Amino acid sequence: MANHRLNQIQNHLVSLDIDPTRVDGHVIIITGAARGIGRSAAILLAQKGAKVAINDLDSIKAQETAQEIRKLGGIAEAFPGNMLDETFPAELVAGVLTKWGKINCLINNAGFCHDSAIHKMDDARFDVIMKIHNYAPFRLLRALSPHWMDPSVRDMPKCIINVSSTSGLHGAMGQINYATAKAGIVGLTKTVAAEWGRYNVRANAVAYGWIDTRITQPPTESKVLSLDGQEIKVGIPMNAKKWRDVSDIPLSRPGTADEAARVMLFLASPLSSYVSGTCVECTGGRFM
Ligand SMILES: NC(=O)c1ccc[n+]([C@@H]2O[C@H](COP(=O)([O-])OP(=O)(O)OC[C@H]3O[C@@H](n4cnc5c(N)ncnc54)[C@H](O)[C@@H]3O)[C@@H](O)[C@H]2O)c1
Repeated sequence: MANHRLNQIQNHLVSLDIDPTRVDGHVIIITGAARGIGRSAAILLAQKGAKVAINDLDSIKAQETAQEIRKLGGIAEAFPGNMLDETFPAELVAGVLTKWGKINCLINNAGFCHDSAIHKMDDARFDVIMKIHNYAPFRLLRALSPHWMDPSVRDMPKCIINVSSTSGLHGAMGQINYATAKAGIVGLTKTVAAEWGRYNVRANAVAYGWIDTRITQPPTESKVLSLDGQEIKVGIPMNAKKWRDVSDIPLSRPGTADEAARVMLFLASPLSSYVSGTCVECTGGRFM
């Protein structure tokens, strides 16, 4: 019943000409938001009125993104930390609750690839990709549960946005670990939608195709992810001709991080108040 009442209120606000793209006062956590899609989403959501918690492994870049948002007149705070760390997800949720007293939206975006052919893939390489794309989102959800299941926030808008990939939906050469994890996050999303709809929580995923960011640009010596002393090179070589061929993308080009971020705004805002348990494909039409 309360859900129905909330929908009526939201519809009423829309009919009153209140902008349904606004997320004024919403507290939004975005993991991996120092650069790429997460950074674009942080800037866009802050422009739309959100208070944004910017998590990233890269502390300096996370601070820079938060600073940039504040310069633009928005509200943002950096919460640097490694999402692979078992205890960090709970610390992040606690830190944001201490800072702003509530959390409306969690965007599980932090990620990277660590590719290898199936026969050469070792357990450590498989494991780290499961940890970042599946364990970290699960641990964040679990840490959020006391807050989101509390009857006092029943009518507050609450949602989760998980980042998947066309590799998860369709498979991809050399990405047995990443494709498995990105398929897993879709199952996680649908389970949250099924289990937490009663708490007025929406859960959706976005499967991106080729978005032009650090992980898809050609690798360089500086494009390295440092994880507990291990250095993981990121980027897709310029000579990966098959991968860079856009002939099967109807829009004939990769997407930009800003275009990718707009799907997150859709899923975080009242524009999608009756959308839950789905996976939106943002691919320029690839794999339709
Ligand atoms: N770019 C694409 O074509 C594409 C396609 C499909 C899915 N994705 C997914 O989109 C998400 C964002 O990637 P992007 O393209 O913006 O890449 P990106 O490299 O530009 O940004 C990813 C950010 O995540 C951070 N990060 C990585 N590991 C972390 C950790 N352990 N803890 C905290 N932060 C961490 C990185 O420091 C980086 O700032 C990822 O989940 C990625 O798998 C990207």
